Amino acid sequence: MPSPRRIGLLLAGTALLALACKKDEEAPEGPSGPDGPTPLTVSLPPWVIDSLGPMPQPADNPLTVEGVALGRRLFHEAMLSDNGTMSCATCHVQANAFSDPRRFSLGTNGAVGTRNAMAIVGLAWSQNLFWDGRRHTLEGQAHDPVTNPIEMRNTWPVVVQRLQADDAYVDRFEAAFGTRTIDSTLVVKAIAQFERTMVSFGSRFDRYYYGGDATALDAQELAGMALFTGMGNCVACHTFGLMSDDQLRNNGVDNPAVDPGLGGVTGQPQDIGKFKVPTLRNIAVSGPYMHDGRFNTLFDVVTFYGGHVQAGTPNLDHAMTPLVGMGNFTGEQKEQLVAFLNTFTDEAFLTDPAFSAP
Ligand code: HEC
Ligand code: HEC
Repeated sequence: MPSPRRIGLLLAGTALLALACKKDEEAPEGPSGPDGPTPLTVSLPPWVIDSLGPMPQPADNPLTVEGVALGRRLFHEAMLSDNGTMSCATCHVQANAFSDPRRFSLGTNGAVGTRNAMAIVGLAWSQNLFWDGRRHTLEGQAHDPVTNPIEMRNTWPVVVQRLQADDAYVDRFEAAFGTRTIDSTLVVKAIAQFERTMVSFGSRFDRYYYGGDATALDAQELAGMALFTGMGNCVACHTFGLMSDDQLRNNGVDNPAVDPGLGGVTGQPQDIGKFKVPTLRNIAVSGPYMHDGRFNTLFDVVTFYGGHVQAGTPNLDHAMTPLVGMGNFTGEQKEQLVAFLNTFTDEAFLTDPAFSAP
């Protein structure tokens, strides 16, 4: 599947990819100097900047060394939950690409949610957060789990009071934002900064497709890539780069819809059954799959796409047309597709100490 872009990138090579995804400096956590917090740039492979553009950052919340370090700490901070037992990382587990290996997450009181916790990968480029796209910024998104009655079950005044009572946190907020007065806006800004650093562009697929390493994929995986871009039409929605076009689409999992998805947010009939196209980066480790975690394995997922798409589903996406009535993938084709999906795993991302609990 050679692309014009790839030819231009052959020179980028593995040496540059080895530098990819490493942050420029380790984050100190003490108060910043008189010049304020230290700007931070996440190093990205040249092809990422070429195809996705520089990492978007809100003007009022640029990445800083101190802000990211604080966000990392807050992401792993159980004080955010009502009874001090749960952090963001409880449901967003690094080894699972910051998704939840359980089908449904449990709140601090044991209440069961209805959707599978999503991976956190490459979201700096995402403008639609949650399965139903109800949030449009990482800052906005980070407000919600803290007060969600089936998640952290807390209130923001309690969170702020707890952090404000902790001198080490007050110092860290001053270092990151120049103020000793903590509020919820600063908490979500720090968390969002940390999340923006969670980029994963170091998979075998990247080495092959963007790095020009022809040996990085084997024949079975290449056959899977041909299905992905050819008869399976997967690439129409799971576009190369982020492996998601960041849109909300109906891929025909239920007819009639059980969960209204975007339709529950907009109230529009034409949005019913539309869900965020999730990234496929690190997909091998981020199961179970779909908004409700209905499929345990990637084999189950490709079995669905090859022959079990609900044909008459209202709002079914046009890009699904080739898959409707296509007939089943053969056993061999399913194995090939799964083999290709497995090439999106980025071990360095899943084990990067910069993302673990500080
Ligand atoms: C109890 C489990 C749980 C906790 C705790 C939790 N989340 Fe989530 N998270 C989920 C679930 C479930 C979803 C999907 C919910 C939906 O789509 O309605 C989700 C979705 C997200 C998304 C959207 C990803 C995307 O691609 O759109 C982000 C980002 C996120 N969570 C970050 C956080 C942060 C930051 C925290 C801590 C402040 C946190 N989560 C705490 C379960 C949890
Ligand atoms: C019309 C756009 C579209 C096409 C074409 C498409 N997908 Fe999807 N894909 C989606 C959407 C939307 C979801 C989420 C649906 C849900 O949660 O119910 C999804 C979910 C998935 C998931 C689960 C991801 C997760 O984190 O749970 C996998 C794996 C997947 N698709 C692989 C594929 C493969 C392989 C193909 C080609 C055979 C394909 N997709 C074709 C839109 C599409």
